[in-house]
Amino acid sequence: MSPFLLTRTLPEDAAGAALRADVLHGLSRTPKSLPPKWFYDARGSALFDEITTLPEYYPTRAEREILVARAAEIAAATGARTLVELGSGSSEKTRHLIDAMPSLHTYVPVDVSESALTGAANTLIAERPALDVHALIADFTRGLALPGTPGPRLVAFLGGTIGNLLPAERAAFLTSVRGLLSPGDALLLGTDLVKEEGVLVAAYDDATGVTAAFNKNVLHVINRELGADFDPDAFAHVAVWDRDHEWIEMRLRSRAAQTVKIPALDLAVHFAAGEELRTEISAKFREEVVKSELAAAGLSLTHWWTDERARFALSLSTVAGA
Ligand code: AVJ
Repeated sequence: MSPFLLTRTLPEDAAGAALRADVLHGLSRTPKSLPPKWFYDARGSALFDEITTLPEYYPTRAEREILVARAAEIAAATGARTLVELGSGSSEKTRHLIDAMPSLHTYVPVDVSESALTGAANTLIAERPALDVHALIADFTRGLALPGTPGPRLVAFLGGTIGNLLPAERAAFLTSVRGLLSPGDALLLGTDLVKEEGVLVAAYDDATGVTAAFNKNVLHVINRELGADFDPDAFAHVAVWDRDHEWIEMRLRSRAAQTVKIPALDLAVHFAAGEELRTEISAKFREEVVKSELAAAGLSLTHWWTDERARFALSLSTVAGA
């Protein structure tokens, strides 16, 4: 029997309070925006899983290709005894890595979703009974304390989720990750890469409309959690490539002038016809940018791996000057 520990670093209602604050701030300002983390209730997580199987959405397959090809190299380069995975979700791709790490002693999945953590841990424990699993319910964008597990540690942040952060948030995030690492530890980071606009836009605006449903799911979440009366059909899904910032932006465009009530916030929000609400940025990277952002946080890039078609990259970095 392998030990399974679950630690909650967030109060039970932290998510509720954070949602209220994000919706109040995001819908009271111009232009309106909401952080992408609120997509992921059970339905949103299922829609995201469906997105990863769409022909247009290449990042998941590209990253899996790299993990399969490089897992042994990553294991050898880090010699990690603890693997910390930020935003672990279903841990599906990580399995390739875990399976290639014979010296792995402890796996620390970190996620805001307790159901994702227990589900993933159960599967893993069944297949790797000697592995310790210490799951953390935590919001890794707000500072993180890790359990005292054996080093060296490998912190993995996969999927390209770092692209959801604005540049200043990214800098703060990488600095806080750097603070978790000791000499000999490493960061494995997944980043989607800049490529042809048509390919990028299609990945966020698929032909069958799964991404549109995923985008509108945030309105269902606000309706359920805050008693709002959003009509998701009154909004159109929009995905645009911002070539100056090199990020994809997802938006919801109000099809007509309308006012939405949000009773839990005692708020009425007016949308002009055609007004857009930004729901996500998904930044795309170049090697030089990743390298310099890591360096600014005190991390040195040691490895850069891409899939055959150079659509996605995994990078390994270590504490600079150590
Ligand atoms: C899970 C954040 C990596 O940005 O590509 C998928 C989320 N949004 N389709 C991404 C997403 C629209 C995804 N990440």
